[in-house]
Amino acid sequence: MLNDEVNHTANRIDKAGAMDEQQKPGIALLGAGVFACSQYVPAFKALTHFATLRAVWSRSQETAMEGALLVKEYSPDVQAKWGEEGLEEIFADQSIHGVTLVLPAQVQLDVVIRALKAGKHVLQEKPVGTNVAEIRNALKQYHEIAASGVQPPIWAVAENYRFEPALMEAAKWVKEAGPVFSVHVTAEAAMNSSNPYFSSTWRRDPGLKGGFVLDGGVHFVAGLRLICGGEVTLVSAVARHLEPTLPPPDNLSALFQMDNGCTGTLTMSYSSVTKQVGFRVLCSKGTVDVQRHTQDKKHGYLVQYFPLEGKSKKFFGAFSGVPDEIKAFANDVSNVVFGSKTSSEADSRSSVSEAGFDVAVIEACLKSSDAKGSVVSVETV
Ligand SMILES: *[C@@H]1O[C@H](CO)[C@@H](O)[C@H](O)[C@H]1NC(C)=O
Ligand SMILES: *[C@@H]1O[C@H](CO)[C@@H](O)[C@H](O)[C@H]1NC(C)=O
Repeated sequence: MLNDEVNHTANRIDKAGAMDEQQKPGIALLGAGVFACSQYVPAFKALTHFATLRAVWSRSQETAMEGALLVKEYSPDVQAKWGEEGLEEIFADQSIHGVTLVLPAQVQLDVVIRALKAGKHVLQEKPVGTNVAEIRNALKQYHEIAASGVQPPIWAVAENYRFEPALMEAAKWVKEAGPVFSVHVTAEAAMNSSNPYFSSTWRRDPGLKGGFVLDGGVHFVAGLRLICGGEVTLVSAVARHLEPTLPPPDNLSALFQMDNGCTGTLTMSYSSVTKQVGFRVLCSKGTVDVQRHTQDKKHGYLVQYFPLEGKSKKFFGAFSGVPDEIKAFANDVSNVVFGSKTSSEADSRSSVSEAGFDVAVIEACLKSSDAKGSVVSVETV
């Protein structure tokens, strides 16, 4: 569906003979760390027909220049920008329509709000904020833009799980299998010194409540909510700190209830020695099982359906959520900038409210753990 939409736009642009630079939205990449360079830089390379990366910004000149050098290969005019001055230049540049932010969670929202107020469309990395109060405050400022009579830009959050083909397929199968009554989510993340994010400073900041459990946990909650088609309403959880080389907490065990009647457990460990992510969903007409899997050297998820009647079926979907969500954003920006669409029509899978719910569930788990496992209601964002 997504690819069709994007191809459709490509055709439209082709037919209009409008493939020149002027008709493609200009984008700036804010942040040039590990994830930005390994995921966003190649994603934009595949998107050169839809968007032009005009600038790479980082707090430090060195990092910005290193990032821009990677982009130069396919976007020769890309500029390196750094520091406060560089950021102001990007906000003032009328040829830059949107920004993608890959910055530490603690500083990201401030830059997001500044970008939105400068009229730039935004795609920011998850988590959307470090806690619910902060997200609400940012949303209030976003709504003020609309209240001032200006058409607000798109504000999208990159969390990729809602774009993963296998997880979308699993959600369809769960819907077909009828009321879902139980789900078991396991995430063994084996975060050790071999992992490029192990030494990430911002995830280790003692002021960030949740550490890796917040940063990675939003993904597993996003997958759970997508696959089970409901909202988590109540949680009881115990968080623990086992591995001294990791920031606390590194383990979380939660029991939860959803608004569609489903109950379940979520176990997350960053100190495990094994690596696995799985969702096992029990429905009235069958069981849907989703596990991290490698097929033909591609990493992704294997979805299996074990029905009450008839034959079982399986589907392997390789990971494509990150490039797909960036593509969807570029497409949405193009439709708003050059077409007649508004920001409210942007892909809802990347919406702030979806991403906010994921943070709210993790926050409720941490609160419950602080209260010795008492039942906590998940806040709405
Ligand atoms: C931490 O999570 C792992 C993986 O689920 C589990 O094996 C381990 O028992 C957990 N530890 C605690 C103390 O919850
Ligand atoms: C880190 O975990 C991975 C996955 O379980 C494992 O293959 C690797 O050997 C571990 N590295 C270290 C340094 O423990």
